[in-house]
Amino acid sequence: MRKNVLVFRSLPDDLLARLQEAHHVTVADPRKPEQVAAFHAALPGAHGLIGSSVKLGAAELGAAPQLEVVSSISVGVDNYDLDYLAQRGITLCHTPGVLTETTADTVFSLIMASSRRLVELANHVREGRWTKNIDVDLFGSDVHGKTLAIIGFGRIGQALARRAALGFGMPVLYVNETDTDLPVLAGHTTRVTLAEALARADIVAMTLPLTDATRGLMGPQEFAAMKPGAIFVNGARGQIVQEPALLAALDSGHLRAAGLDVFATEPLPQDSPLRNHPRVTALPHIGSATHETRRAMAELATHSLLQALAGERPANAMQLAVH
Ligand code: DGY
Repeated sequence: MRKNVLVFRSLPDDLLARLQEAHHVTVADPRKPEQVAAFHAALPGAHGLIGSSVKLGAAELGAAPQLEVVSSISVGVDNYDLDYLAQRGITLCHTPGVLTETTADTVFSLIMASSRRLVELANHVREGRWTKNIDVDLFGSDVHGKTLAIIGFGRIGQALARRAALGFGMPVLYVNETDTDLPVLAGHTTRVTLAEALARADIVAMTLPLTDATRGLMGPQEFAAMKPGAIFVNGARGQIVQEPALLAALDSGHLRAAGLDVFATEPLPQDSPLRNHPRVTALPHIGSATHETRRAMAELATHSLLQALAGERPANAMQLAVH
């Protein structure tokens, strides 16, 4: 039976065509002012939603009484009201796995860029300020051999640990609910508490999901507990960090630098002090943003949506519990 699908982010043409072969499809991205009305008009009839980067709370989902499945083109599912989805028995699919390595690459790039001041020094050349050999005031700090704390040791955290430990000889401390001793990392990783990770690491990287338990996790006390001169990197979600506390730690010189791919508000507001901060390398949430990975994510999300609408249980459907 042909059902109604609402695509709320652009999909590659061939994937859109695959959906159109099987179902009635409306494409409407509510982040585009001219498509907001079409998005809201399509909700009441929608059986399936596919897209990303749009907050879908009880109000939006409640406007879709026939909804069977939301297929998110993301691994993070913090944009959705999970309790509401669970109560209604709506399937939520996401795209873990296919973006792991690319996102770990991004986080490691931020470690390199923050430690070696890559963006700042590239701008030094670009802006014609390289008129004599650079001096100690522009030196960076080593990455190899430094202790890395990874907060959240899921797929992305583990992929980051492989890069750090096996590629750069970095001892890895990780914070996780369970022991995750991977044979390939034997002797390189140690599970510690958050307090211990912050106290011991030269570089602290966040790779954990945003949940009620992790919102605001990094605040004034946590930044103060980091080693003087340490580097902070966030490739997870901006709301895990209390940004004013991070700014204070950077302004005081307690932290050497921060590499941030995610922010409490995205896109980063023009007046955010993080945008031009001399100690911050800021990226526009590019964790998974490569041609190959975004394609793989869109394919997986499309496949899952079609499976769910056909009454099958997709492998990457989340287990949602009613609270
Ligand atoms: C993800 O997949 O969760 C990325 O952060 C994009 O939102």
